[in-house]
Amino acid sequence: MCYLLCKEEKVIINNKEFIIRFPKMEDVYSFVSFFNSLVQEEAQITKNEKVTIEEEKDWLKSIIKKIESNKLHCICVFYGNKLVANLEVNKLGYRASHVAVLAIAVDKEFRNQGLAKFLLNKAIHISKNDKDIKVLTLDVFETNTIAINLYKKMGFREVARLPKRIYYHGKLIDIITMDYYFD
Ligand SMILES: CC(C)(COP(=O)(O)OP(=O)(O)OC[C@H]1O[C@@H](n2cnc3c(N)ncnc32)[C@H](O)[C@@H]1OP(=O)(O)O)[C@@H](O)C(=O)NCCC(=O)NCCS
Repeated sequence: MCYLLCKEEKVIINNKEFIIRFPKMEDVYSFVSFFNSLVQEEAQITKNEKVTIEEEKDWLKSIIKKIESNKLHCICVFYGNKLVANLEVNKLGYRASHVAVLAIAVDKEFRNQGLAKFLLNKAIHISKNDKDIKVLTLDVFETNTIAINLYKKMGFREVARLPKRIYYHGKLIDIITMDYYFD
């Protein structure tokens, strides 16, 4: 069973109390505002269009199904009722079933307080204890220096670069792939 499917934890980070748990269908409105605020601020993520509640319902349904079938680890961080950070570790299939794709985002107002570091540590710990996962991989914009530095600090290494893959703020920029290897 994937991590946190059955439990909810209170954690103190930077003197604030957060709840971490898996996502539920009733979180759909929280996910819509969390995701749309990332789009609004033009965060360095691939998607640049706001989502509707219906789209997010479908997405959340598929996420929960994947968690239940042990294909995905997902950790949501709540401050009170507000979703403030989300991390996904999405296992690939077939001949790449030892690889999992990591994605992370933190609400703008809660950045630089250690939430991403906390979540990445959790993701590495969970993945280490998941017998399926041998490689964690992620894609990051070459311009996202905060994220790149953080990933390096956590043990990820650049393994590939796709030139001019993203159009962001009027420029064509590279996508960097970073990996973390277990064993
Ligand atoms: C990248 C991101 C996840 C980092 O989250 P975060 O919770 O702010 O990160 P943390 O607070 O754990 O900080 C991690 C490190 O980055 C540094 N950092 C964070 N924000 C910073 C800022 N604005 N300026 C300089 N350094 C910063 C921290 O000081 C810390 O370094 P340290 O280990 O030396 O103390 C967050 O900025 C984010 O969600 N951005 C938008 C979405 C995104 O880019 N996702 C990643 C896509 S690949």
